[in-house]
Amino acid sequence: MKSPTIFLFFFLISASLLLLEASNNGDGAFKLAEKEDTHVKRSDFPSGFLFGAATSAYQVEGAYLEDAKSLSNWDVFCHSVVGCGEHGDNGDVADDHYHQFLDDIEMMHSLGLKAYRFSISWARILPRGRFGEVNPAGIMFYNKIIDNLILKGIEPFVTIFHNDFPQELEERYGSWLNTEMREEFVHMAEVCFKSFGDRVKYWITINEPNIFTEMAYEQGLFPPSRCSEPFGNCVAGNSDVEPLIVMHNLLLAHGMAAKLYHDKFQPKQGGSIGLVMHCLMFEPLTDSDLDRKAAKRAFAFNIGWSLDPVIFGEYPEEMREYLGSELPSFSLDEKNFMKNSTDFIGINHYSTTYTKDCTNSSCSPIANRAIRGFLDMVGERDGVPIGEPTKVEGLAVVPRGMGEIVNDIKIRYNNKPMFITENGYSSPDVQEEGINELVNDVKRVNFHAAYLASLAKSIREGADVRGYFVWSLLDNYEWLHGYDVKFGLYYVDRKTLTRVPKLSAKWYKNFLKNNSDVISKGASRYRRSLQKGDMMLEIANL
Ligand SMILES: *[C@@H]1O[C@H](CO)[C@@H](O)[C@H](O)[C@H]1NC(C)=O
Ligand SMILES: *[C@@H]1O[C@H](CO)[C@@H](O)[C@H](O)[C@H]1NC(C)=O
Ligand SMILES: *[C@@H]1O[C@H](CO)[C@@H](O)[C@H](O)[C@H]1NC(C)=O
Repeated sequence: MKSPTIFLFFFLISASLLLLEASNNGDGAFKLAEKEDTHVKRSDFPSGFLFGAATSAYQVEGAYLEDAKSLSNWDVFCHSVVGCGEHGDNGDVADDHYHQFLDDIEMMHSLGLKAYRFSISWARILPRGRFGEVNPAGIMFYNKIIDNLILKGIEPFVTIFHNDFPQELEERYGSWLNTEMREEFVHMAEVCFKSFGDRVKYWITINEPNIFTEMAYEQGLFPPSRCSEPFGNCVAGNSDVEPLIVMHNLLLAHGMAAKLYHDKFQPKQGGSIGLVMHCLMFEPLTDSDLDRKAAKRAFAFNIGWSLDPVIFGEYPEEMREYLGSELPSFSLDEKNFMKNSTDFIGINHYSTTYTKDCTNSSCSPIANRAIRGFLDMVGERDGVPIGEPTKVEGLAVVPRGMGEIVNDIKIRYNNKPMFITENGYSSPDVQEEGINELVNDVKRVNFHAAYLASLAKSIREGADVRGYFVWSLLDNYEWLHGYDVKFGLYYVDRKTLTRVPKLSAKWYKNFLKNNSDVISKGASRYRRSLQKGDMMLEIANL
């Protein structure tokens, strides 16, 4: 637990200066001095722009053994000796969304959301993958979600694979290390298209393949916990090679499922299919040529790694150069179906990092590896942090990065349609900050307003961005952080599972109603009332 410290720093948001001062008086308030560019209105975005919120199955559903669902890799991992979250947290109950989904959809409706991004629990609809039957109870559950969303005018965005799959696939053949898993995924995707594709118009094949491979096969922190020195201390694995194999299988699985959708389902169902990447913005640490090249390389090794193959049909040049024969390659036939296999690009964006070259200066043993592109990610320059820290290390608040990453992706991929499929602010749990502070989340409000302002600017400059999803609708099970890290618009009481709207929920609702010039005026008003301790009253007046 960190105690608040005084810090003061400047940074640019869009074109104007924003001064943040985190005070140490314990009220968590910070002042927005100057005329900052956090003025943002619904009308700064195109009228058909989809505003929504996102979740994923394991993080919210619970009901881990109900209605014939099998154990997923995460169920088994969380129940193992190692465990999966701080304080032995797990997703057994999570937010009990499996039972409370109707109320949750009502909540989304009351906020005025036009879209909801969620994922399908593979173990719920295909408990044994291709080794067993489709589970009708699982299909029924997602049918109910989809039907109720549509009834409320909320567009379903469905992720087919978001970290969890039936454990049996791991035990039988080592899941994503095996090419079998591509067929397995195509089977899962086909069941989804057949069952839900008449109503689902936005499909996401895979969530954050770059983070999945890194966490599971390079750092060994996610199941199946594979890695090698110096990345970590695992029973088995090879951090320099396995991430490349796993990514290759993930990308081909995406490409094969997208081909199936494009050939057999899209002509009748008329939807679109895309891939979601975790996209940090990379800025060179110094002005040197080497650091600027390192920032370019960071894009290639983290984002281009997945996006180049699904748009151009091959891995980025920098990766081919640095990884040589370790990098798998696509056959001619594969290249052909991989090209343009994504109809849109899903961008999960939270933060920006400085990038330092390691080819000509000393770096940590982990950074100084081919698999990492011989570059290091650094949180500060000359002792000055790149942005205000959040509860998750490495995810500093850097609003300008939103517009910058969108512009970089726009340029590299010829302005293919984009969605911001996740963007959110992490704060600590109640033990660390009181319930009042947790619910009066002024910092989260400011975060979303500032990031949205930056996004609006990139759209004005021509970027084809079509939607924005807050991560997350609810405080939920945040993987290795358990329930200690909160991203939600709603606080969830861990004992009663009651949902409590935070200030950010009220703010989002108000923003979507298009009746406010949201932030600056609002924030100072909220802050004043926060200091007076009558926040709830103030919220009620919104
Ligand atoms: C929002 O409000 C502005 C000004 O009041 C108005 O011009 C605009 O049409 C409204 N609608 C949207 C979707 O922004
Ligand atoms: C992808 O599709 C776009 C638009 O249909 C086209 O202009 C582009 O050439 C295609 N790219 C490749 C690599 O085939
Ligand atoms: C590499 O580092 C050395 C020593 O710091 C420096 O003299 C040299 O200019 C660097 N090379 C490049 C290409 O910057």
